[in-house]
Amino acid sequence: MALSDIPRTIWWEDGKVVLIDQSRLPLVGDLLACNTYDGVCTAITGMAVRGAPALGVAAVLAIALWAVTEGVELDDYDVFLARLDEVAAEIAATRPTAVNLSWGAERMKRFVRDNMDVSLAELRDLMVQEALAVQAEDEERNRAIGANGAELIEADSRILTHCNAGSLATAYFGTALGVIFTAHAEGRVTQVWVDETRPVLQGARLTAWELRMAGVPFKLICDNMAASIMQRGWVDAVIVGADRIASNGDVANKIGTYGLAVLAREHGIPFYVAAPTSTVDLTLASGDEITIEERDSREVTGFTVSGIIEPQSSQESSALDILTKEGSYALGMKKGHQMEISRKGGGFQFDGWFRIAPPNIEVYNPAFDVTPAEYVSAIITERGVARAPYSESLAGLCSGSGAIHELG
Ligand code: MRU
Repeated sequence: MALSDIPRTIWWEDGKVVLIDQSRLPLVGDLLACNTYDGVCTAITGMAVRGAPALGVAAVLAIALWAVTEGVELDDYDVFLARLDEVAAEIAATRPTAVNLSWGAERMKRFVRDNMDVSLAELRDLMVQEALAVQAEDEERNRAIGANGAELIEADSRILTHCNAGSLATAYFGTALGVIFTAHAEGRVTQVWVDETRPVLQGARLTAWELRMAGVPFKLICDNMAASIMQRGWVDAVIVGADRIASNGDVANKIGTYGLAVLAREHGIPFYVAAPTSTVDLTLASGDEITIEERDSREVTGFTVSGIIEPQSSQESSALDILTKEGSYALGMKKGHQMEISRKGGGFQFDGWFRIAPPNIEVYNPAFDVTPAEYVSAIITERGVARAPYSESLAGLCSGSGAIHELG
């Protein structure tokens, strides 16, 4: 296995947007083909595609998809532009925290307005080319982040990471994991600590999967083990990604990141954030202005599990065959557990949700938190490494680049 075995996250194929369904990885590796931009929106809200840079790519591809599907019906420029604005707003609103969604939507809107000297038919094709260019740029940016970040990693480093800021969270290669892949290839990473990342388990499911494929040595831990590992002196650096970075350097990232930053400070461990400049939102003065997404309580009160069934006998196989003769079968279960069996290729798959908490309880489930800039040792971007004071260093890195967000 090698880094190159990590599958592509999302791509354009035969006039469709195709993506690997991350909500079921790694035990089921299904692809989803989206025929409409609505389909991409559903994939985003269901977290089939997730991770800030990948969401930016999903946004531009969704808008290109709209242009060559529903957009074909609109032969008047004004009508096309008005509908484009609505579609872009809808896509940007699918998840509120990662700025990359609105960044991607704005980039496509700007592109259209800068290219209105051609026919609508030509413009629609150009929009697809532009979306593909954004996708290619994202990978390029991540490789540059990897190279810039690897310079900060000392020999024999043991690095802790949270959530998945890997290839799957981007067009390809990853941000925080991009740094780890690069530093590992240069012989400086001896061990990665992977936080499982409750409640959606992006660390256990996705980061562990990517690191194993890339041949990087790692150990999976529960989130509440990080403090003890740092206390023992077993962590040399923490590297995470970001969903939105305010102009003062406050960082929104997966829930649990702030706790890690405080722990890192207490134990004298550098805390690095790796993100493209497209994640920097210079319109926000501080992290207080970042909207934090709250998600379904079922992510906390139970576990979602999918897998492939391997019948152990011909009787089992025929029983499953009978049960799923309509395509799928929902088993009757007590206590609100859910289990559906469906046909898959020549075999069978299960998709379940299993309750762990008592029913009818109140839950608070924020998907992200904000780490104040004072806890961040450096922000690694494709254009270089920003250090405090971030209001100056980030403005410098983002200036004149098109990375400044022109929202609204
Ligand atoms: O809810 P998710 O899985 O979209 O959250 C992802 C993260 O928090 C990542 O750390 C962040 O988007 C950076 S990805 C390069």
